[in-house]
Amino acid sequence: MTSPLYFLALESSCDETAAAVFTNTGELLSNVVASQTELHARFGGVVPEIASRAHLRNLLPVIDEALRKANLALDQIGCIAVHNTPGLVGALLMGVSAAKMLALSLNIPLIAVNHVVGHIYACQMNDPRPMYPCIGFVVSGGHTALFHCADPLTTRFLGGTRDDAAGEVFDKVAAILGLGFPGGPNLEREARTGNPKAYHFPRTFLKEDKLEFSFSGIKTAVLYTAQGQDAKTSEKIAPGPTRANIAASFQQAVIEVLVGKAIQAAQQNGLTRLAVGGGVTANTPFRELLERECHAKRIELFIPPKELCTDNAGMAALAIEKYKRGEFANMSLDAEANFL
Ligand code: KG4
Ligand code: ZN
Repeated sequence: MTSPLYFLALESSCDETAAAVFTNTGELLSNVVASQTELHARFGGVVPEIASRAHLRNLLPVIDEALRKANLALDQIGCIAVHNTPGLVGALLMGVSAAKMLALSLNIPLIAVNHVVGHIYACQMNDPRPMYPCIGFVVSGGHTALFHCADPLTTRFLGGTRDDAAGEVFDKVAAILGLGFPGGPNLEREARTGNPKAYHFPRTFLKEDKLEFSFSGIKTAVLYTAQGQDAKTSEKIAPGPTRANIAASFQQAVIEVLVGKAIQAAQQNGLTRLAVGGGVTANTPFRELLERECHAKRIELFIPPKELCTDNAGMAALAIEKYKRGEFANMSLDAEANFL
């Protein structure tokens, strides 16, 4: 039996410094994430320079831990993978520079992975069912985007948000409601005791055929509901049933739009498989609604376990597919903020 090829992958696109080790057969041996949440919390959002500096501090310890957990030494690694797009350029550059240095010094191949396509690929890790062709849906802090995915590396953009991404609007609404950073998980927690039918917030484009999203209207609607028409008061809404009801009604409106559009995308493209990834996919009511609606519409649903939804380096296992095709990067590899 030939011994497996071991990949070491790095992620540094935003505010998580992450390293993972996996084999060429897709077995994930370690997946270590150092979150910077506490560093950014007092600013209410990710501060790019702070993120880059934290990556610089955290990358080598995170790599060490990923190797230790995989029970491997650095010289047993046969390929380096790194997310080089999209994200904060200064943050991405930290991972890209470390990856180049590792590939060069170990004299092994380097593979560049698109972080967004990686979010889709993560849906079939640990899942034996064939996933392609499918609709890939990335719902994260930076993207709300639908793709036609013929295979892991052949993706065609179908449509996305015109303004905020879904995760971004969770974060902004959490800030309006005084729920702090990170917004998404805090808002989900607040919504648990609220009534999702208490307020009717807009479901923009839901009844239209186009595969587009817009979340700026709902953000304004929540602002007016929480702080009065014209948002004249700068005081945060007090904790209590009203705040929980606003949170629950907001979450319900957003997840209905997300699920509705994903199903439309599958139906319009004659596909019966849907793969949903990205940080917002960690939201339990969203997962439950996806499961219910996909079941009703006979669409096969692929969602990663929660730890593979938010940013991590394990999702760079897409590099295995690139390795098979000989798609290697060289030392001129650069970081790109946008890929669409
Ligand atoms: O994929 P991700 O970790 O980073 C990006 O690539 O953007 O997604 C982060 C986003 C944040 O906006 C965060 O608030 C949101 O995902 N998020 C959630 C939940 N967990 C993370 N949104 C709603 N509910 C959650 N439980
Ligand atoms: Zn992401």
